[in-house]
Amino acid sequence: MITTEVQKYSEQLKTLGIEHTILEHPELKEVEDVQKYLGSSLADAGAMIIMKAGDNFVAIMRRGDCKLDFKKIKKILKVTNLRVATSEEFTEITHVPAGAAHVLYPTLRTLIDAKVFETEFINAGSGSLTYTFRYRANDLKKLPTAEVVDISDQNTAEFSTKNISGVNRVLSGVRATGRLHLGNYLGAVKGMLELQNSSKYETLYMVADTHTITTPYRIDELRKNRREVIVDYLAAGLNPNKSIIFQQADVNQHIELAFYFSSVMSIARMQHLPTFKDKVKQYPNNATMALLNYPLLMASDILIYKANLVPVGIDQEPHLEIAREVARKMNEQYGMDFPEPVRFATKGEYVPSLKGEGKMSKSVEGSYINLTDSKEEIQKKVRSIPTATEAGGEMSSGVKTLFTYAKLYIPQDVEKYEEQFKNGSLKFVEIKDAIAEAIYADLKPLQEKRKELEANPSYVDQVIKDGAEKARAIAQKTVDEVKQKMGLG
Ligand code: ADP
Ligand code: TRP
Repeated sequence: MITTEVQKYSEQLKTLGIEHTILEHPELKEVEDVQKYLGSSLADAGAMIIMKAGDNFVAIMRRGDCKLDFKKIKKILKVTNLRVATSEEFTEITHVPAGAAHVLYPTLRTLIDAKVFETEFINAGSGSLTYTFRYRANDLKKLPTAEVVDISDQNTAEFSTKNISGVNRVLSGVRATGRLHLGNYLGAVKGMLELQNSSKYETLYMVADTHTITTPYRIDELRKNRREVIVDYLAAGLNPNKSIIFQQADVNQHIELAFYFSSVMSIARMQHLPTFKDKVKQYPNNATMALLNYPLLMASDILIYKANLVPVGIDQEPHLEIAREVARKMNEQYGMDFPEPVRFATKGEYVPSLKGEGKMSKSVEGSYINLTDSKEEIQKKVRSIPTATEAGGEMSSGVKTLFTYAKLYIPQDVEKYEEQFKNGSLKFVEIKDAIAEAIYADLKPLQEKRKELEANPSYVDQVIKDGAEKARAIAQKTVDEVKQKMGLG
């Protein structure tokens, strides 16, 4: 059954003389997955991207197997700032969910890469995740605001040392302050996995061990944890054949670039950051220069690879703002071509603490579930969420927390439990145990994989060594470029 929206969209295209057929498929978001289902290749897919160019939004179409050249696009659009729209901006402009883009945007300037026209038919969005339109490629020239331009290069499986394409690189990291917990897993690692497993992106994932020294720490623990986080990554499914997986401290270039970045940022700007103030409150005797520089090192982690997409929890937004500011300043003052990185949000971007107040964090005892917790431990912890009911039938923050977990882990039953809560028949232990069961089922494969990895330390060593080499090669190129532009090389 074709929905009325899709039908209407199809009529509009017919009026414009754009020949197309409508293909139906299960709900799929990624171009790769759709193409696989339809038995087509990436070369026959058109990916529509909404970007913010200066103050305006533009629609840009590339072929699925090609990568955009940011520099060329900037030149064509006569702007210095260009970035991918956030998912909020995307939905606001297109009125369709992220991933369901169509090709007709009468109010947006629309650039179509010339390579799109090298195939006769091209599959592209329909405004729905369950339909794809097979367009006669040449007819797309009839779109009212379309311009054909030469803005892409064909993709290669190898990571280029200079990320001229810009749109496709991802970097993320987790500090080495302990083993990963469920909040890290849902807020950061699941996003990392999703991007890794979509062949659209080049993904680099590190353990932010150097960041760990910005607050008080124990040497022996850091030494252990910088490896443990890598093992957790691998257990969760990060794959060294798809991603560069490395320890930040193995790539000296990050610190070097952070110092260059510190020359374009003022002390006042760094001191006013809420994340800095929070940490100073937490450790009043350790307001060090390293702590003040934390966001610049993070900007360096990202920009050294010219990454533009960062899967992290919502708490990292102020740091990403700094990274964007640094990128802009370096581009303006030294003619660099750094992208302005945006956050890639996951469904679990804010996992609340088991205590019912604040977020799950390893620095708050009793707030978290470890990825290695047994079924019994998980059950005990979920049962500990405070759910004493309040007068007037309002949800207490503990009950809200419980429902947040329910939405993440048993979404199909949320409505039923909400109904039961409203009419006072909800048995908390029942919903808690159902959640605990689902969390354990999610973590079990990961725990099994971890055991295998623990039995094979030389494999882990090799991953760490290879990752460092690959990361260094890219990082050095950026450092050389920056030094050159700044008059140091
Ligand atoms: P912690 O707060 O436990 O010290 P980190 O600050 O090391 O965790 O965070 C590592 C990554 O995990 C970051 O991307 C962060 O946004 C994400 N993260 C941490 N806690 C949560 C949470 N409770 N919910 C969602 N994401 C989280
Ligand atoms: N600041 C991040 C955190 O506390 C860790 C981090 C360091 C990071 N460098 C990064 C995350 C680069 C993403 C990209 O979780």
